[in-house]
Amino acid sequence: MRGFTDAIGGGRAFPAPSPPPKGTVSVTLTENRRAARHRRALGYWAVLLSLALSLWVGSQVVPHDWVHRPALFVHLASVIVGLGSAVLLEMSGLLWMLRRTHLDDLRRVERTVSGLAWLGIAGLLFSGAFLQPDLTNPLTDLKMLAVLVAAMNGVAMTRLTDELKRLPPRVRFSMLPGRLRLWCVWSAVVSQAGWWTAVLIGMLNTASG
Ligand code: HEM
Repeated sequence: MRGFTDAIGGGRAFPAPSPPPKGTVSVTLTENRRAARHRRALGYWAVLLSLALSLWVGSQVVPHDWVHRPALFVHLASVIVGLGSAVLLEMSGLLWMLRRTHLDDLRRVERTVSGLAWLGIAGLLFSGAFLQPDLTNPLTDLKMLAVLVAAMNGVAMTRLTDELKRLPPRVRFSMLPGRLRLWCVWSAVVSQAGWWTAVLIGMLNTASG
């Protein structure tokens, strides 16, 4: 056990912390987990309701040209911000897996870009509502499913980042339990698949319309 702790701590010696009062740690951990679960549940609902609202507005509003063009500009700018953030985050994860960086670096990137990714998604939902999405087109439906998957996965990933926060800053990817490794890879694959599907279908639809 000592060997494992030394290894994931990057060989650094940590002074033994004085033990907290009995029961305090587990109670705080349980409370933190419950609060995080509550925040995630709110996040899932917020995503679902925002997409529904965006699609409802999109089906009601026939925008003038002077609204449509700026909306398309905001849409494309939001794609750059959202997709860029997702690629940067998953790239940092890949570098950590390949032992080119430390978990600490990945956490720093995550703290910086996660807000930007949500800004991108919010911009896409807002601007998309003024671009007249055609929900009778199966490709557009598939795109909306991809948007939903990417956004829901973004909320679910907060649980993974909470788990990673509890690990030593220099822990190697290969030292994690198999379940946690699979979770990291799965989250990254789902995120990239969702984003790229939405981008490709958006471009295809614009090109064919
Ligand atoms: C992850 C989220 C999204 C991504 C990555 C994305 C990406 C794109 C891209 C790349 C285009 C092509 C623009 C061009 O070539 O000029 C586009 C167009 C469009 N987007 Fe999105 N979009 C997203 C979400 C949405 C949402 C939520 C809506 C509607 C509520 C929407 C509605 C549209 C519409 C109506 C167009 C015009 C072409 C079409 O009919 O599909 N998009 N999108």
